[in-house]
Amino acid sequence: MTDSEHPITASYAKYVNPSFVKLLGVLGYGRVFSKAQDVWIWDSTGRRYLDCLSGFGSVNIGHNHPKLIARLHQLLDEQPYHLCHVGPAAGAAALGEALARRLAPPLEISLFGSSGAEAVEAGLKLARAATRRTDIVACEGAFHGMSLGTLSVVGNKRLSLPFEPLLPGVHRVPFGDLTALEQVLQKHRPAAFLLEPLQAEGGIVLPPPDYLRQAQQCCTAHGTLLILDEIQTGLGRTGTLFAHQAEGFVPDVLCLAKSLSGGIAPVSVAVTSRHLFDKAYGKIDRFDLHSSTFQGNAFSCAAAVQSLDIIDAENLAARSHARGAQLLAGLQQRLHGHPLVKDIRGRGLLVGIEFGPTGSGWLNRLAPGMVEKLTEAMFGQWVAVRMLEAGILCQPTSSRWDVLRLQPPLTISENEIEFVIETLVKVLDEYQGVAPIVGDITRRVGSQWRKHWRFQS
Ligand SMILES: Cc1ncc(COP(=O)(O)O)c(C=O)c1O
Repeated sequence: MTDSEHPITASYAKYVNPSFVKLLGVLGYGRVFSKAQDVWIWDSTGRRYLDCLSGFGSVNIGHNHPKLIARLHQLLDEQPYHLCHVGPAAGAAALGEALARRLAPPLEISLFGSSGAEAVEAGLKLARAATRRTDIVACEGAFHGMSLGTLSVVGNKRLSLPFEPLLPGVHRVPFGDLTALEQVLQKHRPAAFLLEPLQAEGGIVLPPPDYLRQAQQCCTAHGTLLILDEIQTGLGRTGTLFAHQAEGFVPDVLCLAKSLSGGIAPVSVAVTSRHLFDKAYGKIDRFDLHSSTFQGNAFSCAAAVQSLDIIDAENLAARSHARGAQLLAGLQQRLHGHPLVKDIRGRGLLVGIEFGPTGSGWLNRLAPGMVEKLTEAMFGQWVAVRMLEAGILCQPTSSRWDVLRLQPPLTISENEIEFVIETLVKVLDEYQGVAPIVGDITRRVGSQWRKHWRFQS
């Protein structure tokens, strides 16, 4: 049986998301992934792929880490009280303490949730309740989740437009622009400035040096809280346990999710100071103003505590730093001067390659607008297709499809990094101009059309 006839594909298209299955059929790069171990994943035909996506940054410790699996088996054998809302929950207490021990003061108290979006919502609610202010400042190009509250602060109109009207009182500033921030803080007295240490889904965008620390100072001077969204950059991904530790400042609220549970159980936190917690929720009649049913459940919290221990024990932050430097340097060296590579950037094992014609080929001279649009819409995705066919799973960033992200589990080895570099260079060697890539995409779409948009080409 081929993947295109796989019963899971048919059921998924019928009962879950027909549009997604259709989209995969446009280029024919559908796969049913069924097994995962460390940095490797397998599709239902038994083919193995190196994972350079990590569930969009959710498996920093590698898939199905044996110590995590053993801990979760042990927990289930203990038959714990999973959802304890009538008294102190053991798992939440242990995770709260494990986080506080790894963070600088005054970050101490964790508000729990299940998804990253919930952690950001928790941060925004806390900021409003603690400051008694309403407005929020967010960055252009930011990504913080898909709930109505977080869509209000996301800087990607394609994602948010269908759901308007969103939260009022949201002001946008360019990421990295302190002058714009200062002006908004002065004019609107916002409750919070929400941002990522580096924009992942926005195209692996790094801020200017010292931007974050100075932004925090600006916010403090204006009585605005700085909420740092480390949902994708935290837990070793960028070469330190938390990205802000490399920036010499401590945010007022820190949001974590994704890799917090090792990629197995949904868990998220917004960590803040006792002082801010007291201001927002310190009275008895406010103790439950931020709660949800699965918040602090035993399974997720045990997974998170074990994942934090694995990150420490295996030095994954330092390994991310070293392997990330190897990946970045290797790509920069091997792709230097490539006519379709505009930039290669990143920190730790969060690396982006920005595509687009650097010179002026005939197609670019003939139709420059068209080339730009094609680049934005297709290049990153096409390279991801070719990489998948060569045995590596990767994807463009969700708001910038011209930027391919490489984001493997932090356990990746030196040899596996070399394999990634080698494969990408080989794929890009075939495309020394825009015309061949447009030709290949057109041929593939034509062939897919003839095959009635078959799931896997
Ligand atoms: C920086 C950032 N914040 C928030 C989120 C939302 O997390 P979730 O999808 O778990 O709601 C994401 C997800 O990709 C993210 O990358």
